[in-house]
Amino acid sequence: INIILLGPPGAGKGTQARRLVEERGMVQLSTGDMLRAARTSGTEMGKRVAEVMDRGQLVTDEIVIGLIREKLAEGGKGFIFDGFPRTLAQADALGKLLDETGQGLDSVIEMQVDDEALVRRITGRFTCGNCGEVYHDETRPTKVAGTCDVCGSTDLKRRADDNEDSLKTRLLEYYKKTSPLIGYYYAKDQLVSVDGLAEMDEVSAEISKALDG
Ligand code: AP5
Ligand code: ZN
Repeated sequence: INIILLGPPGAGKGTQARRLVEERGMVQLSTGDMLRAARTSGTEMGKRVAEVMDRGQLVTDEIVIGLIREKLAEGGKGFIFDGFPRTLAQADALGKLLDETGQGLDSVIEMQVDDEALVRRITGRFTCGNCGEVYHDETRPTKVAGTCDVCGSTDLKRRADDNEDSLKTRLLEYYKKTSPLIGYYYAKDQLVSVDGLAEMDEVSAEISKALDG
């Protein structure tokens, strides 16, 4: 099965995607992670992307659609689209790419979280630079301070765009350009909404229920 995780910055898309990878062997396609990898590669594209991301704006459709096209060509056992599509143009492009490769889209999971909670989630977030595990100062601290629970790395870091200024821009971009996708997928009968404010395990359970019917 192929699914989209849709929701504002900090809704918990990355957290839930990692769980689905572990539990179901699905493949996580996070355009945010791909773009962050591109920026550390030091290429010209990477440099341009870094500035846009740090301000909290969306990268061009052309770049992200190109990244997704490459990954779909590699194949896999069920994709989780995390942070993609983010515009109507990207949604149309994804539909075409899936058609071309003879695949379908099973569900679009909309994770609903209010703005106040998003600010707390984003400003408290840190991730493991080695394995990518996502933590939070209050809701998901590491067991041993400064050490990743999963891989033992001490390379824990915060994202450059996780500050209040960039977050405001990210939220505006979400409401202007991405939230229309809720209606788009609702009209296609593919939308399932879950309460993203619930505890992480509860959110996982709701998503599983949606996937297994
Ligand atoms: P991207 O990396 O996709 O970031 P985002 O959408 O802003 O989402 P986040 O990663 O911030 O949040 P999340 O929903 O994954 O939440 P998480 O699980 O970490 O995009 C970054 C940038 O890249 C964009 O601004 C743009 O510039 C560019 N970009 C990416 N894709 C693009 C595209 N398609 N088109 C154009 N540009 C693109 O959780 C957040 C925190 O909350 C964590 O600390 C976590 O531990 C905690 N938490 C999670 N769930 C719960 C829970 N249930 N209860 C309590 N705490 C929780
Ligand atoms: Zn780790």
